[in-house]
Amino acid sequence: MSTFEVQSELYEETDFATTDAANGNSISKFTFVYPKRLEDRRNNSNQWENGKSNDSDSDCAEKYANGGKCLNGSTNSINKDQDESESVTENGVSLDKDEHSKSTKLDLVGLQIWRGALLLADYILHYEKRFKNRKILELGSGVGLTSIVSSFCAREVICTDINIGGLLKLIQANIDRNAHLKDPDCNVVVTELDFKVKYEDYSEYLKTQLQDVEYVICADVIYDDEITNAFVLALEGLLLELPKLKAVYIALEKRYVFTVEDMDSVAPSYEHFLRVFYRRNNRFGIARWKLKQVSTNFPRYFEYEKVKDLVLLKISN
Ligand SMILES: C[S@@+](CC[C@H](N)C(=O)[O-])C[C@H]1O[C@@H](n2cnc3c(N)ncnc32)[C@H](O)[C@@H]1O
Repeated sequence: MSTFEVQSELYEETDFATTDAANGNSISKFTFVYPKRLEDRRNNSNQWENGKSNDSDSDCAEKYANGGKCLNGSTNSINKDQDESESVTENGVSLDKDEHSKSTKLDLVGLQIWRGALLLADYILHYEKRFKNRKILELGSGVGLTSIVSSFCAREVICTDINIGGLLKLIQANIDRNAHLKDPDCNVVVTELDFKVKYEDYSEYLKTQLQDVEYVICADVIYDDEITNAFVLALEGLLLELPKLKAVYIALEKRYVFTVEDMDSVAPSYEHFLRVFYRRNNRFGIARWKLKQVSTNFPRYFEYEKVKDLVLLKISN
């Protein structure tokens, strides 16, 4: 593993109002706004509990794609370019991070937050109807932001990563810190899931937890070819073993480099992932699962630069 220090671009583009915590760590606040329909439901506990709503993800996505009417209508946006920022209620996910984790060695990148996590969080907020009352597994959760957002609407969230640098303890602390934001009925479990361990070698506890998972989500886990190879095998295990799995969502930022070999800008980690996935998926001569790119043309609820190289992939049967 490389000993280079790496830093998420997020820390250069946004002020996370970082404050010192009593335990010597720092707390960053990731502000967001709820889509209006979610906020309305939260404000009306009867509706929330009875699950009654006139939720219409597709309508909203369509309106947004057709000129952003939804931003002024049924969706509050954090987009400060819109003249409606005064009417927006800002909320925040507060995350406890090791003080020195603005830049980390490559093997501790989970201590930072990457743009992909916020893109995926936005997607879940926008399409919360799809994830409502579902069981969600997050892989490579980092400090847990996307799992925390999933807990706003899911029935159960299994938040996983490798247990390195105190990551799992940090995730649990972050989940506890943001417990007031979650759906009161949602159960969140933090446990280790290492891509390098084969499904058959998972603990009985983990296998039991995973059995009724309906969605797998992950953000920015494609950045190192060796980890990507293990990630694809782990995905394959989950796709084969989880009977209720409907889809896997993978958010990532394509990172371009110019190579003399290609005489062009290429995104080597992303291309490596596609190659390895394609090879595994087609190894019996026919594609077993569908991989497609999902439109990222949904509103931004968190504060970050939604750069064009952010990609959301969906794998399903
Ligand atoms: C770039 S960080 C992304 C963290 C978070 N999802 C985000 O977007 O902010 C990559 C994540 O993959 C995790 N990871 C690396 N190797 C792993 C492995 N073998 N199994 C599971 N997760 C792994 C890291 O610990 C880290 O949390």
